[in-house]
Amino acid sequence: MFESVSLAPPDAIFGLNEAMSRDARPNKINLGAGVYKDESGKTPILEVVKEAERRLLEGEITKSYLPIDGSADYAQAVRELVLGPDHGVIRDGRAVTVHAPGGTGALRVMGELMKTVGSSPKVWLSNPTWANHAKIFAAAGLETRSYGYYDPESRGLDFESMLASLEEVQAGDMVVLHGCCHNPSGVDPSFDQWTTLGQVLARRGALPLIDFAYHGFVDGTDEDARAIRHLADQLEEMVICSSFSKNFGLYAERVGAATLITGSSKQAGAVLSQAKTCVRAFYSNPPMHGAAVVTTVLNDTELRRRWEEELADMRHRIQKMRVDLAAGLSRRNVRLHKDGNDFIVRQNGMFSFSGLTEDEVDELCRDHAVYILASGRINVAGITESNIDRLCDAIAQVRAG
Ligand code: LMR
Repeated sequence: MFESVSLAPPDAIFGLNEAMSRDARPNKINLGAGVYKDESGKTPILEVVKEAERRLLEGEITKSYLPIDGSADYAQAVRELVLGPDHGVIRDGRAVTVHAPGGTGALRVMGELMKTVGSSPKVWLSNPTWANHAKIFAAAGLETRSYGYYDPESRGLDFESMLASLEEVQAGDMVVLHGCCHNPSGVDPSFDQWTTLGQVLARRGALPLIDFAYHGFVDGTDEDARAIRHLADQLEEMVICSSFSKNFGLYAERVGAATLITGSSKQAGAVLSQAKTCVRAFYSNPPMHGAAVVTTVLNDTELRRRWEEELADMRHRIQKMRVDLAAGLSRRNVRLHKDGNDFIVRQNGMFSFSGLTEDEVDELCRDHAVYILASGRINVAGITESNIDRLCDAIAQVRAG
């Protein structure tokens, strides 16, 4: 069976971590995978997570299986976080939430569900998108297509091309949109553009799937969910895949969820039953710990307030690093775009889509031990006061040829 198996290529994102751990040079800078680091270069456990874990250690009475669709309390807390507690779709029982192992698990379950209940839907992905999206939906046996999104010239959204592509979407196709902090570009539609997107998607009969992995990293949890809540007002059906890897720092606990909005509470029940059938054949039921932490925090007023503060601290540190990176490059006379480096400050979320070429990325790694993605995506959340000068020097040297 295994004799003729060849080596698979390394993962575009986590493969960098593997390469870096084989690199013996001191002062390596890891700006690859989207993981937050604090000023000391560590990925911290949030204080509120520690507090919730202390409470769970004391109060938890069983480690028995969760239901197939996971914890009902967690599902409700996630729905209310994403849609707001008073949203009509919650009041009307039109939304159900499947607790899944990470955002990736949620996306994969949704891919499987679409294959089960749809009639050969195609999955539309932005160009560019997160490197794993195409793989997840292909693994579910779905055909993927790409829609126009990013304009490298302006370093902004190519909304015209996006709308033109969406006109080719067929009824029943699924369109994957990044809820905020588009990965990798950091370029998001404006609120008015979201409204237009809602109208186009409704007219085309498409099912939007919102990948909401960076909830809270632009302006705050309510602010970042505004467009999605508006879309949920406009459309009868949609799916939102949440991840708590970044905003709770619960990467290794694999905490995610898929919230499905349907036309009626009866449809919601039917769709949930099909999703459960998919989950049962995949991983049976989800892991408990991370979701229990999230539920404990979201359902306690004081912990929730403290979480929002810790999230704001992460967000503000990243925003400061954006400003410092742009300024540090400008001071060295490096202009990553013809108009300068301000685009770095305008991008949302963890990443800067720098415009560095693949050759420059290779050189940064080979000559300076700086690890960023081949696409030129830099994890700004990995930049600190202590590595920023070396990073800017390295980019300047590479740019100088
Ligand atoms: C990333 O894009 O770097 C993160 O979402 C981590 C991952 O799973 O790829």
